[in-house]
Amino acid sequence: MTQRVFVFGCQDFEPEFLDAAAARHGIAVQYSDSTLSAQTAVLARQYSAVSIFANDQADRAALENLAAHGTRFIALRCAGFNQLDLQAAKQLGIDAARVPEYSPYSVAEHTVGLLLTLNRKLHRAWVRVREQNFSLKGLLGFDLHGKTIGIIGLGKIGMAFARIMRGFGCTVLAYDVQQHPYAAELGIQFVSLPALLQQSDVISLHCPLNEHTHHVLNAETLAQTKPGVFLLNTGRGALIDSKALIQRIKSGHIGAVGLDVYEQESGVFFADRSGEILNDDVLARLMTFPNVFITGHQGFFTREAVQNIADTTMQNLADFFAGRRSDCWLT
Ligand code: NAI
Repeated sequence: MTQRVFVFGCQDFEPEFLDAAAARHGIAVQYSDSTLSAQTAVLARQYSAVSIFANDQADRAALENLAAHGTRFIALRCAGFNQLDLQAAKQLGIDAARVPEYSPYSVAEHTVGLLLTLNRKLHRAWVRVREQNFSLKGLLGFDLHGKTIGIIGLGKIGMAFARIMRGFGCTVLAYDVQQHPYAAELGIQFVSLPALLQQSDVISLHCPLNEHTHHVLNAETLAQTKPGVFLLNTGRGALIDSKALIQRIKSGHIGAVGLDVYEQESGVFFADRSGEILNDDVLARLMTFPNVFITGHQGFFTREAVQNIADTTMQNLADFFAGRRSDCWLT
C-alpha cells in the first residue's frame, strides 16, 4: 500500500512539525487548507488515509464521500472527536485514531491564563498603559487564594488545571462521571453538579462534548451559579448554550467569561478574518462584553503539544499502513 496521507484543514504552523514526523516513517504528505466536508471529501480521492483537525466536519455525508473515493483510515490531529460520526465511520469500514494525550499542561495553563487575565483585567491594563493611562479605575480583582474552583470533567486536562489551582491555594471541587484515583491525595472533593454550580467562585469545563454534556451550562444550570461567578471554557464550545450565557451576562449575574472555544467556531476560527463582516451575531455579541475574553481555540498551541500531535498522528498512520492497532484507535 502506498504510504501517503491527505491532510485536511492544514494550519500554517503544521507542516514544520508534520514533515519531520512523516519523514521518519517514510510517509508522503499532501497538504490542503480546505476543511473536510461532504463537498471537499473528493480532494482526497485515491488516498487510503486522510488526516483531519478539530474543525473538520467528518459527518456521515463527508464519510460516505471519503469511503466512495477509497479512504479507509482517518488520523485525527486532536484529542476530542466530536467532529467525527463514529458510528457512520464504523458502518462504512473507515477506521479512525486520535491523539488522546499530547500535553494536558498546554490547555490547563491556557485556562489559568484566561482566569488571571479576566480577574486582574490584564487585557484592559495593557491597552491603557499603551495610551499612558495609568489609572487603576475598574481594574480591581480578587485573591484567588482561598476561592473555590469547580471543575467539570476531572480527566487529564482537568487534573492538570486542578493541580495548578491547588498551588494557588484554592479549594477544588470536581464533578465527573468517574472518580480520578489521585484526586483525594490532592484534596479535591467530588460533588454533584448542582453542588458544584452553587459553591464555585470559578467554574471550568474540561469534559468531552457528547450527548450528555451538550449545553451542560444552560439557562437552568447557569441560574444555579453564584452571582459574580467566573466561567471558563477551554473544552468544546457547545458545552455552553451561548444564547443563555448572553442573557445571564446581560443580567449582570456573571462576573466574567473566558472562552477558548465557541459553539459555531467552524468556519470562523483558525483564519485571519480581519476586514471581513462577522455574520455570527451570537459571537459578535459575546465579543462586545468587557468581562468576556475570547481566544481562538489556542489552548493546545504550545511547541511541545504540536510536536506530540505530529508524532502521534504519524505513528497512527504508520500503524494503519502496517496493519497494527493501538490505544489511539477509536473504531
Ligand atoms: P480526558 O478524557 O482525560 O478527561 C475527560 C473527563 O471528562 C474524564 O474524566 C471523563 O470521565 C469526564 N466526563 C465524561 N463525561 C462526563 C460527563 N457527562 N460529565 C462530567 N464529566 C464527564 O480528556 P482531556 O484530555 O482532559 O480533554 C478534555 C477535553 O478538552 C477534550 O474532550 C477536548 O474537547 C478538550 N480539549 C480542548 C483543547 C483546546 O485546545 N482548547 C485541546 C485538547 C482538548
